[in-house]
Order: sequence, then C-alpha cells, then structure tokens
Amino acid sequence: MKNKNENSMDKIVSLCKRRGFIFPSSEIYGGFSAVYDYGPYGVELTNNIKKEWWKTMVQMREDIVGLDSAIFMNPKIWEASGHTSGFSDPLIECKKCHSRSRVDHLLEDVGVFADEKMSEEEIQEIFSENREKIKCPKCGQSDFSEARKFNLLVQANLGNFTSDWTKDPVYLRGETCQGIYVNYKNILDSTRVKIPFGIAQIGKAFRNEITARQFVFRTREFEQMEMQYFTSPEKEMEEYEKLRKERLKYYLDLGIKKENLKWHKHENLVFYAKEAYDIEYKYPFGFKELEGVHARGDYDLSQHGKFSGKDLSYLDQTTKEKYIPHIIESSVGVGRTMLAVLCDGYTEEKIGEESRTVLKISKKLSPIKIAVFPLLKNKDELVKKAKEIFNRLKISYICEFDASGNIGKRYRRQDEIGTPHCITVDFDSLEKNDVTVRDRDTMKQKRIKIEDLEDYFKDSF
Ligand code: GAP
Repeated sequence: MKNKNENSMDKIVSLCKRRGFIFPSSEIYGGFSAVYDYGPYGVELTNNIKKEWWKTMVQMREDIVGLDSAIFMNPKIWEASGHTSGFSDPLIECKKCHSRSRVDHLLEDVGVFADEKMSEEEIQEIFSENREKIKCPKCGQSDFSEARKFNLLVQANLGNFTSDWTKDPVYLRGETCQGIYVNYKNILDSTRVKIPFGIAQIGKAFRNEITARQFVFRTREFEQMEMQYFTSPEKEMEEYEKLRKERLKYYLDLGIKKENLKWHKHENLVFYAKEAYDIEYKYPFGFKELEGVHARGDYDLSQHGKFSGKDLSYLDQTTKEKYIPHIIESSVGVGRTMLAVLCDGYTEEKIGEESRTVLKISKKLSPIKIAVFPLLKNKDELVKKAKEIFNRLKISYICEFDASGNIGKRYRRQDEIGTPHCITVDFDSLEKNDVTVRDRDTMKQKRIKIEDLEDYFKDSF
C-alpha cells in the first residue's frame, strides 16, 4: 500500500474532476482563475463537513449560537477592522511574461521567511537581497518589477449607480467573522447568552488572492466556518487553551490521522493578539495552515465601538464589572477541510493482480452512504427488487442506484467516491430474501436479510 503523502496533488485533482467532486469554474469558457465549482459528490461532502462542524460548534454546545449575516456590509466595517488599510499581500510582476506572484511565496520557495506584516520597503529590501536566487515560476526568468502591497478586499458597486463607484466601493466580505462582531450586541440583547459565549457562522468569503495555488487550498471565493468566543479579559487564555484542545479533537474525530496534523505557533503576532496557533495539515505540498485558533484580545469590539460610536461593553450582572469582551477565534475553510479529508483518505491498493483507488474517509463524511445494485441489469426481477430496497433506504440516507457496467466496475466506482457500503441483489436474494452488503475498506461481504437492512445500518453514519 502506498503512503498517502506520496500521492501527488495531480491524482487528487484528477479524481475530483473524473468523479464529480470539484470542477474548474466556467470551464467551457476557458475557466476562471482560482474559483471552483463543487459537483454532485463535492456538494454532498462539503454539506457533511459543514454539518459536522455545526454539530460540534452549535448543536452540542449550550454556550454557542449560530448566525447567518449578509455578505455585503457597511464599508465602514472594513475600515474599523483594518482591512482597507492593512489586508494586503506583497505582489511582484515578472517583466518578461507579466505573471504576478506573491513575494513571500517566492521567498519561501528559496528558503527565506518574509513576514506578512512587513512594510513595502522591508519586503523590497529582503527581495533585493535574495534576487539572484529567485526565478519567475511561469517563465523561469529573474527580471521583476518593484514589490508592492496589494489589497485583498474584493470591491463591488452594490447600491452605487454612479460611473465612478470605485472611489466609494462596497466590499464582498473578506472574512465572515466581521458579521459576527457587528451582531454581538444584537445577540446579547435578543437571546439568553451570557459571557462566556460564542457565535458561529458558515458562509462565503472573497479575497483577491494574487496567485492561484494548490487547487482549492487557496481560492478567491471560498467558504469559511468561523466561531468567535466572547470572554472576560481574565478568562481569555483559559478559554483559549480549552478551544485549542477541542479543535484538534474535532479533526481526529473526523478521522484525520494524528500524524498528519500539527500545531504551528505564530512567532510574529499582530500587536493586539495574545497568542496565535494554526492547526496545520500535511497536504501533498507540505504542512500548511488548515485552521487558525487565535486569541484576539479586545481589538475587534474596541475598533467597532470606536468606528460605530456604539457602546459595545458588557456588564457582568453578578460582579457589576464592565468591560469590552475579549475574543478567541476558530476559523477554517470548507475547501481546505475537504482537501485535507480527500488527501488523508486517498488510498491506492493492490488486490492480487488488480489495483484499486479507494477513498477511506469517515463514513460521516461520505457523499453516498449506500449504493444499491442489481447483479445483472437486464434481469427485471433483480432490478425491481434492488429498486425497492433503494427506495426504502433513500428515506434515511443519501443512496445511489446503479445498474450499469459489470459489478466489479460498479464497486470500483463507489470505492473511488468513498461509499462505505454496497448492496447487491442476486438470484439468491429472490429466493432467500437477503442481499450481500460489501464493506468499502475490507471488501468483505455479508449476507443480510432485506427486512433487517435498516437495523443493520442504524448508527452507522
Ligand atoms: N477571521 C480570521 C481569518 O479569516 P485567515 O487565516 O485569513 O483568518 C482563516 O483565514 C481560514 O480560512 C484559513 O485557515 C483557511 O482555512 C481559510 N482560508 C483563508 N483564505 C483562504 C483562501 N483564499 N482559500 C481557501 N481557504 C482560505
């Protein structure tokens, strides 16, 4: 068996396209850089990822509530948060082929670390010092423009009917958590939450990423799952340590292998942050950020209090203490989670002379839970019985009926999309009223009475 991390990204990308997980956006028009569409199995998988996240974050917690705030917000929010002035990446252009790259990525490729908080001048200086070593990833030349900072916020003309709207733009949100901060007071006033409490949200975010790299790892339109936890200043670090433990456990519970996860501590903190760690996953291109778990102090609510003119302080009814709540954050992308799940589960196996590709992912996440086959497609009695079983099971699970091709091919196809169980209706089924149920990972088959199938799958997923 092959080690998962020896599998190249190409194999994952090819499986995603071939089997209907992920397609390049607008493909028939030549594509649209750094944007992807999720196909039939992709949308099931991402729905399951979001369901598990919501269950952990909201359903199982008495102290965390949900929110769905709008993508468009008052542009002042992005001034208060610092995004209009500081949310930028260092960009450089190749003078030969005119492709643009992130300076910190080019430096990273030659083993030099550049901090995203550096000024344009500092970045330029480091870049100049290492110029000889750096080549354009597209054409291989080393003739570059000056480095400059490029703001990542995506602008729009919503509600602005003038021709020079770019002078006064609104923004597609660059992160979902700002919608949480500006609704903190609404939630406090309309529900029974008391500090410490959290607000969780899943939604789209948009960033003008300079380079499209590594498939859905870095895209310009993506979905975030963010939870912001509001605490007293004294309890911030205690809650932060709890959250760190819970977040790592969440990935282990999703079936991600422990050896493919690690903590990365930020050495260069933004001025307001108390502590910041990322959970990194060992993608085929190395350990990279999957989720950020950060202790943000009172920066967010202080800024929004200042810019909105509203009092966002909290009065503790028991101690009568008044303070601006401190925030600890858990933030992860749906696409990055999906990529980690796919990389972790992707397996190539030899079975005798043959080989198979199988997605050994958690049953909770599998897009299709059960596939139902008649052994032969042209035997009406088998097709009829298989359809009956499919129609019964689909009430409780996402199932697939397949009567095409030979049975071996049908099994291989379901293995590739990670279906945990395949049911086959054969001639014995007609006499004995039972079917074979095949397990994805062991490939072992059991005969189960048709009337017992619901019981057999109960609590399986
Ligand atoms: N509110 C904090 C925040 O947005 P971030 O580190 O910029 O922090 C958090 O993003 C998470 O969102 C990342 O850990 C990653 O999982 C996901 N993410 C960020 N940018 C992304 C992009 N361009 N494409 C896909 N996922 C992205």
